[in-house]
Amino acid sequence: MKKEVLLCVAEYESDILSYLFFIYIISRKALYKAFPLISEKCEKCDVNIFISLIISLLMKKDILFHDESVFSNPEVFDFDFVPEEFLFRDSEIKELANCINPAVNKKRPVNCMLSGPPATGKTTSIKKIFEEINGYSHIIKVYINGRVHNTNFRVFSEIHRSIFKYTPPESGVAVTTLYQKICEGLKSENKILLIAIDDCIFLEEADEIIYELSRANEIYPGIKIGIIAVLNEKEKYIIEEKSSSVFCPCVIEYFPYTEDEIFEILKLRAKFGFYPGVISEELLKIIAEHSIDYDLRFGIELLRQSAIECENKSMKTITKEHIEKAYSRILKSDKPGKVIDEKEKIILGILNVKKYESGELYLLVKKKLDVSYSSFYRILDKLEKKKLITVIEKATNKGRTRVISKN
Ligand SMILES: Nc1ncnc2c1ncn2[C@@H]1O[C@H](COP(=O)(O)OP(=O)(O)OP(=O)(O)O)[C@@H](O)[C@H]1O
Ligand SMILES: [Mg+2]
Repeated sequence: MKKEVLLCVAEYESDILSYLFFIYIISRKALYKAFPLISEKCEKCDVNIFISLIISLLMKKDILFHDESVFSNPEVFDFDFVPEEFLFRDSEIKELANCINPAVNKKRPVNCMLSGPPATGKTTSIKKIFEEINGYSHIIKVYINGRVHNTNFRVFSEIHRSIFKYTPPESGVAVTTLYQKICEGLKSENKILLIAIDDCIFLEEADEIIYELSRANEIYPGIKIGIIAVLNEKEKYIIEEKSSSVFCPCVIEYFPYTEDEIFEILKLRAKFGFYPGVISEELLKIIAEHSIDYDLRFGIELLRQSAIECENKSMKTITKEHIEKAYSRILKSDKPGKVIDEKEKIILGILNVKKYESGELYLLVKKKLDVSYSSFYRILDKLEKKKLITVIEKATNKGRTRVISKN
């Protein structure tokens, strides 16, 4: 019995248990003093009962046993997890739905381009919208990720698989043959192709594919193809003039989440991913604060790693120390912060339309925000450091001025 209890203590690997056991060995009296509750019950008991009592006492406290976990649904923290509630993206989803809706009514969808920095919900938007149009048999949905399907052949092969339900042979079939077969198949079966090309930048000839798909109905009249291309702001150059005139997309901008938005998203993740009470709102705020210099994806990973740290320490609730330990461990890039606040968001929104001279921009900002000229400049400075805007000094007949444009 004594051996079993000792093994059990070792298995729990609890620092506190070992410590208590150590105290017990050297001084039973000291332990009684520290835990009056135990001393009451253990006046004359032996070591087995003593240790069982300590274990049961600690079980009611913050001790996690080896077969327990703080995660109720660990998959909630996977990068490809699609959250049930997609917060703060209603307007982007609505715009995307407006582009796609014609397909539901058997018309050609409007092409669109989702653009924005990392972890702003572009891929999730596509997954969400594709879920919504399940059940329309006349729409063929194809999701391409440029990192995986990185050549024209692979892209067309994937489209072929979705239409004809089998993958064409890897060799011996020319891309043009596949293209023709796809177009003829769509036409004869009267289907609409909705193709999302995510992470376009990794696709060797993204521009070429977008061009070919956009002008398919010139060669095959009546054919209906809608393209959703995902590019970040600085990658738009890959769509050359030739393609952009036929592609002619509706651009949907994704802005970085603010600290408060990150907090709300993390709160929801914690609710679905952890058992109740594992993390407090106060600590979630610390994680959101840490994410400011990075992005939402960093925040989700920090939350997950803090929980792992908590489990490693055999505890049931995450502490500030667990977060700091996890934060110090995660490899961080030296990119500047991309999380923006409400004021920065408003300025970026104005700059979305065109570039402005600083004076002009200030007048427009003033209509929406109560800011002094100096704090307006401070905001511009922060946006420039985050590389979200470019400020160029220009000489005019009135002197020097600054021209501000969105990156
Ligand atoms: N509004 C949101 N609510 C809840 N979770 C979100 C939201 N936006 C993004 N996420 C989560 O953040 C992570 C990154 O989102 P997503 O992959 O959609 O970003 P992205 O814009 O495609 O990034 P990248 O440009 O790096 O591909 C995912 O885990 C996703 O579930
Ligand atoms: Mg993505």
